[in-house]
Amino acid sequence: MNKVGDKLLKQIIDVMHKNRRTSGRFSYTVPSPESYPYQWFWDSCFHAIILSHFEPAAAKNELRALAHWQFKSGMMPHMIYWRGVTKTSFPKIRWGKRRTSSFIQPPMLAYAVLRTHQVDPDTDFLKHMLPVIHRLHNFLFRQRDPRHHHLVGIINPDESGEDNSPRFDTALHLPAKQKYVQNQDDNYRQRMLLLEQFRRAGFLIKGGMDRQHWVRDVPFNTILVENLRAEAQIAQTLGLDDHAAAAQARAERVERAMREIMLEGEIMWSTVGLNYRHIRIKTWAIFAPLFAGLLTPNEAATLVSEHLRDESEFATPYRIPTVALDEPSFDPAGFWRGPVWMSTNWFVHRGLVRYGFHEEAALIAKGSRDLLAKSGFREQYHPLTGEGMGAQDFTWGGLVIDMVDK
Ligand code: GLC
Repeated sequence: MNKVGDKLLKQIIDVMHKNRRTSGRFSYTVPSPESYPYQWFWDSCFHAIILSHFEPAAAKNELRALAHWQFKSGMMPHMIYWRGVTKTSFPKIRWGKRRTSSFIQPPMLAYAVLRTHQVDPDTDFLKHMLPVIHRLHNFLFRQRDPRHHHLVGIINPDESGEDNSPRFDTALHLPAKQKYVQNQDDNYRQRMLLLEQFRRAGFLIKGGMDRQHWVRDVPFNTILVENLRAEAQIAQTLGLDDHAAAAQARAERVERAMREIMLEGEIMWSTVGLNYRHIRIKTWAIFAPLFAGLLTPNEAATLVSEHLRDESEFATPYRIPTVALDEPSFDPAGFWRGPVWMSTNWFVHRGLVRYGFHEEAALIAKGSRDLLAKSGFREQYHPLTGEGMGAQDFTWGGLVIDMVDK
């Protein structure tokens, strides 16, 4: 057990309350008041997981607020501007939509709903959320898996939640192996260009975009598998057996496709292009499949001993870095190019617990708590010194409350 103490619990509650916003009958949490003053999709799913530990009613509100903005197509935008654009450091972006973005983020909704229900059983809440989840998953398969290969694609790095990760450099037509400073401006320009093309295409994935940036990302699809299973469990709870079986079958198809197309030895690689070229860059994403139990115990053991425990790759004092230390693109201060993020620590922690790697899981939980004690609730942390970077009063540190081993 890695329970957080009273002092840390109070800090988590304080930051969650400080960042809570209300709009009419809805309430949600902004990730950081100055840097990220809107509602974000996967952030809200993390918030619900955090809040489920001490305020499940607020967790439900957070998810209902997301559901409110679902498009007719089933798409759920990754940003919601409840009060319009506010004057902060967050750049103005022409999404082409009113009050929302036009991108998605990893589909964590079903998982967050299920976790909330588990601590505060509420069938009305499940009945309200299940159709939303189902429409979202249908949208993903309809729009983002046009060849019915059972792998869902993202059309921009931002949709992975890891905006500047080197996993996407090649897909952005940028030289591989660059550090953040070398890559930052071109990276932003290319991402905005993709947005412009998407907007001009009326938000339809046309052939050109399919060829240019059609990444099948490992964490995204891993998260999808676990969320399809959560959808199945929710349906089961509501006595909808056929619905549950269909969601479960979908999860199995994605799982099989991931193993067939992405797996090489013990590593699943994200792919780019229509022929699924492997993007062999070691980021935290190589551990993501553990979250959904996609590897055999032997594959997982090799992955952990050869990469997670290796000090030249991921075993830093404040593990785990988002990019392996021995990658040329590793940059301890580069956005998603090296620093530790609490969400990725949380995913890996849960994966390790799932496979019984309790010692490694405990190291991640402890590393995460040490980062909060040393540097407070920041967006990201230097993996070697623990120095905090990026946004302040950032909510994701609250995930330590869920890094428990049970
Ligand atoms: C950054 C992150 C993204 C997150 C957002 C709000 O854009 O890359 O994952 O959702 O900030 O916290």
